[in-house]
Amino acid sequence: MEHISLAVIGGTGVYKLAQLDDVSSHQVETRYGTPSGPIRVGTLLGQRVAFLARHGEGHSLPPHKINYRANLAALQQIGAQRVLALNTVGGITEHFGPRVLACPDQLIDYTWGRISTLCDEPGTDVLHVDFGHPYTPMLRSKVLAAAKVTGVRLQDGGCYGATQGPRLETNAEIARMRRDGCDLVGMTGMPEASLARELGLDYACLAIVANWAAGCGDGDEITMAEVLANVDAASSGLPELIGELARG
Ligand code: HPA
Repeated sequence: MEHISLAVIGGTGVYKLAQLDDVSSHQVETRYGTPSGPIRVGTLLGQRVAFLARHGEGHSLPPHKINYRANLAALQQIGAQRVLALNTVGGITEHFGPRVLACPDQLIDYTWGRISTLCDEPGTDVLHVDFGHPYTPMLRSKVLAAAKVTGVRLQDGGCYGATQGPRLETNAEIARMRRDGCDLVGMTGMPEASLARELGLDYACLAIVANWAAGCGDGDEITMAEVLANVDAASSGLPELIGELARG
């Protein structure tokens, strides 16, 4: 098995990694089923990096239909130990406006009905993994250090609220999330983070703020065009940051 320095899971608007060279494609099967698409393994600024588009390369999978278990298990099977999750999100609080990149340190799970553990497979031990710090602190520190070295502005910390989707939230739901302490809202942060913990993978989130969440900012309607344009604009420094992270 090849050593992969870093696996990256791309979210809405990030369907491939720019500057990934020498790419080979891997169709991986796992005991949990098939991942969202092929895993692309290539060289990014000298490091071996794997990339998987969470929603599929044509964005065909809604958040509640993603096989999070298969995605993570497949990345582990091809030799990755560290996973950087790119998550497109809405911003709720002051420092998390559109085009901000953030590395949250907490999360609250509002999702339901998703397969959220490995333990329900026959013959599997029941795990009660520690999840007080849902993102691997050491990997988070490395993400922050890589951002510093590459001059990418990154908001350190924040609480990610994971909602069910695929619809966006009501103003009242976001007001409740703000009261709960959420800074960011997205639909794919869970159960990915806790499954990574169950699998023993190091896992950190790099959240790309695409819009003000419902009722925040000027209260305008949130459009997909706005989301994609902001993700694009905010993502320009990502290849350097990811290359640097893969090196460390
Ligand atoms: N809410 C939930 N998920 C999102 C949003 C949002 O406002 N923007 C991008 N992903």
